[in-house]
Amino acid sequence: MEVNILGIESSCDDTSAAVVSGGVLLSNVIASQAVHSAYGGVVPELASRAHQQNIIPVVDQALKQAGLTANDISAVAFTRGPGLLGSLIVGCSFAKGFALAGGIPMIEVNHLQGHVLSQFVHEKDKPKEDPQFPFLTLLVSGGHTQIIKVKDYFDMEIIGTTIDDAAGEAFDKCAKVMGLGYPGGPVIDKHAHQGNHEAFHFAKPNIPGLDFSFSGLKTSFLYTLRDRMKEEPDFIDTHLDDLCASLQYTIVSILIEKLAKAVRETGIRQITIGGGVAANSELRDTLSETAKRRGWKVFIPERKFTTDNAAMIAGAGYYKYLKGEFAAMDLAPDARLKF
Ligand code: KG4
Ligand code: ZN
Repeated sequence: MEVNILGIESSCDDTSAAVVSGGVLLSNVIASQAVHSAYGGVVPELASRAHQQNIIPVVDQALKQAGLTANDISAVAFTRGPGLLGSLIVGCSFAKGFALAGGIPMIEVNHLQGHVLSQFVHEKDKPKEDPQFPFLTLLVSGGHTQIIKVKDYFDMEIIGTTIDDAAGEAFDKCAKVMGLGYPGGPVIDKHAHQGNHEAFHFAKPNIPGLDFSFSGLKTSFLYTLRDRMKEEPDFIDTHLDDLCASLQYTIVSILIEKLAKAVRETGIRQITIGGGVAANSELRDTLSETAKRRGWKVFIPERKFTTDNAAMIAGAGYYKYLKGEFAAMDLAPDARLKF
């Protein structure tokens, strides 16, 4: 029988289930939680409740779309962490119940490794090239901003990380002060298309090594709004597109400059991106242009594999299954899981 892995992702505010069969993705169902938009960010308690409601229908749909039943699943892979504890508990408990009921093994996946390994998710009838080890991954999401040196499927080293906010948080917090709702990244991305990125200048951090910082940019953005609104109360509405374009340009420049430094220091010229912010159109375009100019080889995943999804968890689970790496049934989720 083919190896069929059911993947479960519930680390933040997306409940997702996917099936990978013999390394090929058969289904990837994602239920996003609209409940947080009114609060300008993810409310952990509401996230766990929504996961609790969504998990069974989402798994059901993933199995149906894959044309399989629970009895066909060889192992269940789940996100153990890092993430919100209450959210992780839902996915982990579901995986335990599913594994026990079916008498099948359970596989733990680190959420960040899942994002990195989303590069290796193959879809039926869509041939694509895999990156070669070693490569660098720029992982940019609402919770993480890291440059990871990937030596093998599960041999990764974080060589740069944020010392304060994540890149996605910078998008979300600035969107919140402009009254744009949550998540802010996609809305800023949309407005930025019509704006002039040179209209405003925001502070870029001067952080040594390969680390990032976004809290200074957030403050600089806030002060610009505060000062300009004193003279022009409608400042945000009147200049929304330019504000978004300038902010996005600054965030993308910070990311690309550090990535270029990482390439210089490691000599590794193969680059992948992952995490929700990797869906940003300017980041994708700038990375492709920079790669062409500098002779890097970049792998830019489809947007559906950059934000949180269970395809990456099922895919990572598949490689662990082949290595026989199974989790103990008493394993607990870990909100601060490291690798
Ligand atoms: O990976 P993800 O779905 O969840 C986390 O693990 O955090 O990332 C969510 C983040 C949010 O901060 C959201 O604003 C950002 O990704 N994001 C974007 C875009 N789409 C999502 N940021 C900028 N441009 C986008 N198009
Ligand atoms: Zn994520």
